[in-house]
Amino acid sequence: MTARASTTIAAPEVTPQPAEQLRRAEPCTLIIFGAGDLLHRKLMPSLFHLLGDGLLPDDFAVITVARGEGDDESFRTEVHNSLRTFAPDGAGIDQAAWRRFALHLHYLAGELNDPATYAALRQRLSETDATLPGESGHLFYLAIPPSLYEEAINRLAQSGIAPRVPDPKQRPWTRVIIEKPFGRSLESAVALNACVRRAFAEHQVYRIDHYLGKETVQNLLVFRFANSIFEPIWNRAHVHHVQITAAESVGVEHRGKYYEEAGVVRDMFQNHLLQLLSLTAMEPPVTFSADAVRDEKVKALRAIRPITPAAMHDYSVRGQYGPGTIDGRPVPGYRQEPDVPPDSATPTYCAIRFMIDNWRWHDVPFYLRSGKRLPRRATEIAIQFRKPPHMMFPMPPGETMEPNTLAIRVQPKEGISLRFEVKVPGIEVRTASVDMDFEYAEAFGELDHDAYETLLLDCMLGEATLFTRSDEVEAAWSAVDPIIDFWSNKRPDHFPNYAAGSWGPAVADEFIAREGAKWREP
Ligand code: BG6
Repeated sequence: MTARASTTIAAPEVTPQPAEQLRRAEPCTLIIFGAGDLLHRKLMPSLFHLLGDGLLPDDFAVITVARGEGDDESFRTEVHNSLRTFAPDGAGIDQAAWRRFALHLHYLAGELNDPATYAALRQRLSETDATLPGESGHLFYLAIPPSLYEEAINRLAQSGIAPRVPDPKQRPWTRVIIEKPFGRSLESAVALNACVRRAFAEHQVYRIDHYLGKETVQNLLVFRFANSIFEPIWNRAHVHHVQITAAESVGVEHRGKYYEEAGVVRDMFQNHLLQLLSLTAMEPPVTFSADAVRDEKVKALRAIRPITPAAMHDYSVRGQYGPGTIDGRPVPGYRQEPDVPPDSATPTYCAIRFMIDNWRWHDVPFYLRSGKRLPRRATEIAIQFRKPPHMMFPMPPGETMEPNTLAIRVQPKEGISLRFEVKVPGIEVRTASVDMDFEYAEAFGELDHDAYETLLLDCMLGEATLFTRSDEVEAAWSAVDPIIDFWSNKRPDHFPNYAAGSWGPAVADEFIAREGAKWREP
């Protein structure tokens, strides 16, 4: 029987951590290259929130370097406006907190390919350094188009502003944050890593994947390795398959130009989805240290079976959305979006079966799927366990028993649920599936911080566990490169093949059904 019931797990009262025990960032200057969407939507609201939580030191400065005209005053006004739009507390931001925050913000106008910009930056940095305690660190954030990364890295290194610091303990520290996408293929990622390595030691480099800053993604480590009951069944003997879904209801919005170059596999699989896969599949690290965790993630990524062109149709399918309806509202198809050609062949949906060739996961498919303009936003990791080997309970004709499933909801309604069978009360023996559900918001209150807050603070603290190492990035590209290459050489004559507001193309349902499974509706 498919009736559902839901049970909520009681959560403990958690006392807030005393302020003196919180890890506060060390005195430093954050130099952000680029003043686009990322700065206004994510970085400034996150810094503002961190300051409000008392996690930024008083000795702290931000210098934004971007091409537009402007000065400290005009930049502060712009940031004030964007906080009113993008900060969670929006229009009602605390004015006293804003005045404190504004004092830390500075602006420097300049082109990234102009040596004069770096001379001016050096001057600006020495002025801010003079106001901070000696040995304050410098954190450079490349929030610029990826085509400018190498130029910025080379100039930062050559100008001496961002020196190589071989010893992680040396002070003052210099660190650099590089946004995604890190390369657009294995070859370009290797080249970018080589450029980064010429300029910096690996411990100075923080490659961002904002999924790693999400609360539930971090919880995956705690869930797997702070409990003893799941690990013994986390393997091929008990798991039938794994489904990792990142569904989005939004389309490409104003990013048509970028998306045409990227497509869904570069945009979501190479980074976010493969990160979720590696955390789900990896072996237990020996310690909770950056390299111990990342060593295990790399091993899992390297164990992904290479997909040959001849077998590609058995391992992946793709799609592109056409016009449709979302939340009762008509929305255009991908080819009608701004900056997208009317015959675009770019996939906005993909489903891939990855096999991990190691002892733990031999023969267990990992189905990953992501798409734009699906019915709702939902990211989850679902571990589907094997069915009981022998069914002694009679089932009504045409019905089968549902397998046990453990679903980790990354977003929204962050939480974990376990589905299992129970007896329906009554004289007859009938079974029903119920979900035992843990929801973060119910247990601990609403999650009130953005992934970027965690990640920015970690960089200032020199904590690299939630950042991707060079070998990890390359292993992820190795897994997706053959898929991107294969599909980019085949013009799809069937696009668009799913309507906006549907759960993707019919071929994706056939694809998973061939393996005796079906997609969950998250
Ligand atoms: C970004 C992609 O990295 O992640 C976007 O470029 C996507 O296309 C976004 O929408 C999804 O992030 P989140 O946090 O909303 O799941």
